[in-house]
Amino acid sequence: MCCSRLVLSFCFILFHAVALTFAQDPYFCFETGNYTSNSTYKANLNTLLASMSSNTEIDYGFYNFSAGEGSEKANAIALCRGDISTEECRSCVNKSSHDLLHYCPNQKEAIIWFTTCMVRYSNKLIFGVMEDSPLSAYYNTKNVSDVEGFNKVLKPLLDRLRIRAASGSSTRKFAVGSAAAPDFETIHALLMCTPDLDELECSNCLRKAAEYIPKCCDGKQGGRYIAPSCDLRYEVYSFYDPAAETTSSEGKERHSSKTAVIIAVPTVVPVLLIICIYTFYLRVRKPREKDERKSEIVDEMSNAESLQIKFSMIKVATENFSTANKLGEGGFGVVYKGRFSNGQEIAVKRLSSGSGQGDLEFMNEVQLVVRLQHRNLVKLLGFCLKGSERLLVYEFVPNASLDHFIFDPIKRAQILNWDRRYKIIEGIARGLLYLHEDSRFRIIHRDLKASNILLDADMNPKISDFGTARLLDQTQGNTKKIIGTYGYMAPEYAMRGYFSVKSDVFSFGVLVLEIISGQKNSSFAEGENVEGLLSFAWKNWREGTVSNLVDPTLSSSSTAEIMKCIHIGLLCVQENVAKRPTIASVVLMLSSYSLTLSVPTKPAFLMYSSTRPDISSQSQNSLEVTESDPLVLALSQP
Ligand SMILES: *[C@@H]1O[C@H](CO)[C@@H](O)[C@H](O)[C@H]1NC(C)=O
Ligand SMILES: *[C@@H]1O[C@H](CO)[C@@H](O)[C@H](O)[C@H]1NC(C)=O
Ligand SMILES: *[C@@H]1O[C@H](CO)[C@@H](O)[C@H](O)[C@H]1NC(C)=O
Ligand SMILES: *[C@@H]1O[C@H](CO)[C@@H](O)[C@H](O)[C@H]1NC(C)=O
Ligand SMILES: *[C@@H]1O[C@H](CO)[C@@H](O)[C@H](O)[C@H]1NC(C)=O
Repeated sequence: MCCSRLVLSFCFILFHAVALTFAQDPYFCFETGNYTSNSTYKANLNTLLASMSSNTEIDYGFYNFSAGEGSEKANAIALCRGDISTEECRSCVNKSSHDLLHYCPNQKEAIIWFTTCMVRYSNKLIFGVMEDSPLSAYYNTKNVSDVEGFNKVLKPLLDRLRIRAASGSSTRKFAVGSAAAPDFETIHALLMCTPDLDELECSNCLRKAAEYIPKCCDGKQGGRYIAPSCDLRYEVYSFYDPAAETTSSEGKERHSSKTAVIIAVPTVVPVLLIICIYTFYLRVRKPREKDERKSEIVDEMSNAESLQIKFSMIKVATENFSTANKLGEGGFGVVYKGRFSNGQEIAVKRLSSGSGQGDLEFMNEVQLVVRLQHRNLVKLLGFCLKGSERLLVYEFVPNASLDHFIFDPIKRAQILNWDRRYKIIEGIARGLLYLHEDSRFRIIHRDLKASNILLDADMNPKISDFGTARLLDQTQGNTKKIIGTYGYMAPEYAMRGYFSVKSDVFSFGVLVLEIISGQKNSSFAEGENVEGLLSFAWKNWREGTVSNLVDPTLSSSSTAEIMKCIHIGLLCVQENVAKRPTIASVVLMLSSYSLTLSVPTKPAFLMYSSTRPDISSQSQNSLEVTESDPLVLALSQP
């Protein structure tokens, strides 16, 4: 069944060159033979796949196993990306094997590619045999502005990495690297082969994949080219563990994202190349910041052990945590500005004690948060653990936080024109998307608000304070201790302590409406309206007077975009959690001009504004609230 569907879509593509989107990882069911459900082959295959996913001895991410004898023998290969951990590899192999059996329920030969691993099986001998077909291609739909300049950087980068990957060992043929491209972009690329190939075979497979780029997807910002024996991908953002760039040791990263599109393919026809597609989320254009802030300190950090920074050094940097250096204070602790002796400016967060977490767990969490790197996130440089002190050291972001601009009538009129505001909204959405879906772990921020959005010298937004909930060991979806801020908390979280990515989406929606109106949700009052910004926005939306919401200093030439953002904001703050979009859809909505958005339903109103919400009566317990700082709610377990 699935074969015929694939063949159909293949033809479709062949003749119409149209990109298809499936919300699935790419796979192919080959028509080289079927098995029946009671066959020995089927039993062998099950044993084989189970033995791969449960194998705990292999730590290099490549499995070449077989089971059974003679014509009933099943052979399988699984290959993980060289930057993910053994554990992630195993779970990816397990998941992809299950999916593959499901998609190809009776074909003896099949293959599937996830973002971080590939699984393939056959009744034929597949070990040590180079197979470069079917070759499929996916591309990032975004165009590069300077195609020639981009290709001038891309080609040598791919050549260099191909040679490096091909010359790898019999357990690992993997290379990643990056190079600076025009427009301040950096191209990141990842190339790998199944390591059972010899050097020449690997190189040939990757060469063939690379040769396909101009035929398929010239001028695109990214693409992935996959064949049974090799995999090549490049993007203008970092999509692999940067630690894999410098070391050849194991790193980690990413979930297997639903890449969306795929394409099709025949089998049997070794000569045919196929292509198409579309996909990947539309993400960050310029990835990591330039390396200017790479000081000795940061260099040292690339080594996980040296993430630890001496207490004495931090003490000196912050002038013994002097009040003059205090940048702010929140539910997580106090933040100080500091400067290392080499001149590097830092922000130090001194966590309030009281987390039940052990030192080792804390260090593990830091190592995780340190790996979260995205241009819309403030970078964590290191930490310090001394006695009961737990300190986090971040890069210092020069401009103040968004609240200093957006809620200031003069600054918002002078500095935050609509283009800047739109860029800020987009940047926040991308940073959040990275936290929710693209980082190695799903990170729920839980305290997204204007004062947690820092602005760099170019007014690009950087989300701060992410991962702090993890660092305080509050990783469950239902928590006794609520950390969040008055005005931004989703009702299910404020009232029941239940948090999810959708509670972050809610806070994002509030932020969007604040950015558009220049008004603070928690202190919004308009005439008789004491229900706050959300209710005001909703009322005007329903009455067709939504322009009442828009900051009068914004130029009317951007009305369409502003209206789209109000629409998105209202979708995000809907009371019905399931109806709120994911941040991935938000990013898509922001980057597309032709999507039809769904109609928002009623938002959640928590009685914000002039009166304090009486949440305590709903949560049966004490509650400390400060207006602008994170609010710490102590809930007793229901
Ligand atoms: C294998 O099974 C599929 C249906 O699952 C069918 O379309 C195909 O013709 C079969 N192939 C052979 C060689 O029997
Ligand atoms: C498997 O079942 C089919 C009928 O479904 C039967 O014809 C065949 O002989 C069985 N094969 C084995 C190996 O038991
Ligand atoms: C593989 O995944 C299945 C569910 O998809 C799970 O039940 C099973 O425990 C996993 N096996 C291993 C070895 O992780
Ligand atoms: C990229 O360029 C092609 C034509 O070269 C155009 O059809 C397409 O719409 C552009 N895509 C984007 C996302 O701008
Ligand atoms: C499996 O792969 C390893 C490492 O590449 C290799 O040494 C071994 O010979 C392979 N086994 C088979 C059966 O091909």
